[in-house]
Amino acid sequence: MQNIPIDILKFKKFNVESIKTLSEYCEIISSNKFWDYSISYDLTKYKFNSKKNLVIKIDCKINSNSNITIGVNSKKYQNNFIFSEDFNSKDTNIRLFINASFVHDISHIIFRNSDKTINNKFSIHKIELLESDENFDDSLEQINSKKFEYFHEIPNELNVDSISTTEVCNLECVMCHFNGPNVEKKNGTLRIDQVKKILDTMKPGQSIMFTATGDFLMDKNLSLYLKMANERGLLPEIHTNGTLLKPVLIDELLNYNLKKIRISVDSTDPKQYAKIRRGGKLEDILSAIKYLNYKKKQFPNFKIEINCTLFKNTFNKQFEMEDFWRDKRVDSLSFNSEYYNSIKHRNIFFPPKKRKNCEIKSYFLPNGKIAPCCATCVVQHERDLDWLPKIDDYDNLVDAQADLVKMYNDPNSELRNICKECHWWMISDKKQTGYIRIVDFNKNRKELNKSFFSTIKNYIIN
Ligand SMILES: C[S@@+](CC[C@H](N)C(=O)[O-])C[C@H]1O[C@@H](n2cnc3c(N)ncnc32)[C@H](O)[C@@H]1O
Ligand code: SF4
Ligand code: SF4
Repeated sequence: MQNIPIDILKFKKFNVESIKTLSEYCEIISSNKFWDYSISYDLTKYKFNSKKNLVIKIDCKINSNSNITIGVNSKKYQNNFIFSEDFNSKDTNIRLFINASFVHDISHIIFRNSDKTINNKFSIHKIELLESDENFDDSLEQINSKKFEYFHEIPNELNVDSISTTEVCNLECVMCHFNGPNVEKKNGTLRIDQVKKILDTMKPGQSIMFTATGDFLMDKNLSLYLKMANERGLLPEIHTNGTLLKPVLIDELLNYNLKKIRISVDSTDPKQYAKIRRGGKLEDILSAIKYLNYKKKQFPNFKIEINCTLFKNTFNKQFEMEDFWRDKRVDSLSFNSEYYNSIKHRNIFFPPKKRKNCEIKSYFLPNGKIAPCCATCVVQHERDLDWLPKIDDYDNLVDAQADLVKMYNDPNSELRNICKECHWWMISDKKQTGYIRIVDFNKNRKELNKSFFSTIKNYIIN
């Protein structure tokens, strides 16, 4: 890896009420309103090398109890952040990572107060702009080569990620490890009594995601499962490719207090969509979304989410896709990196600082097995992981969850052989992870027609 310094931003003295400028650094006391305030450094005067990633190194001291958001916004889409993360006093060595495909579009480095109640206090000492030859994806292997202490508390309750009810799918997506063009297709489906057992172990008020390693809408019992969840006071959600969402089915699903529909759409170009999601048509998804929006008059509380897996050739289309989906009035859009060889990831947003312990949950699979994480859900399709707990073998599913955690803590377990090579731990970070970028359209809808800087009190440093 080679980091080439481009420039060190100098601090100008400037005189505003809430900013004290000292000779060698600037000290900022923010207002106590969430994101109404920013200090920005103009980057538009720089010509960056579009083949290299940009790393922005910030020497900044954040006082205890203070929280700030630091981000870089887009020139073309001022309200959109290419990178944005929250930081507090424990964060030293702050780095912002800009993928090469975005460097032509960066506008400002922006510091915002991210706490609603207090006047955050921080000081900025030095900002360095570095061109980097490092491929962010390589950081995952580098981190995996370091020693790591695995540990997870033994749980005393069930932590359900999702119920995948069927392996059967109506599409054949190019990247899919379950039903893609080059993989063995299976037709396992959970029995009704198995789903009932899971739902009976959960507590009223909990969300439950129904999904599949195929597609949930291919399960003939789908309405029954939503009804069962609703009757138990659970909040059902579904994750689907969305191609079978016709008005009659949507009417039926919404009867069961559905909280969220997450639809996977990996391109907003109809031709590219059809190439990725083989057998699907983008126009079917758009009709479904139109109808879902119409039904929001009757059911205002359910949310429509779009999920987009990013590939090398779609990574730089993110803002285009944001504009497309904002117009279609969906609630949010999440972009995620692509996994390959089951347990590796590429097209990540930024390199993680270090390895994190995984949040072990229960992922119920169509063949009746229970996996502790996404990685093992994928691996078990290719290899028979006969050591995974089975729903039918437990009177109390909390014991199955505890067994999964024991495997994670045991250096000699079969699970730990997978862990050694795996990149999926990246998704367990409590802060923003390099795996996912979520755009919440409801949050910034009101600011849309204004430029970013006209919506907040801002001090630009040139
Ligand atoms: C296996 S699918 C099951 C649900 C449903 N059939 C669908 O496509 O939404 C779950 C999610 O994994 C995503 N996915 C499939 N293959 C992937 C890959 N290689 N990398 C990242 N995400 C992938 C899909 O786009 C989908 O959002
Ligand atoms: S729709 Fe989902 S399960 Fe089906 S092939 Fe595509 S990604 Fe795989
Ligand atoms: S296989 Fe990967 S995701 Fe699963 S527990 Fe191990 S490191 Fe975590």
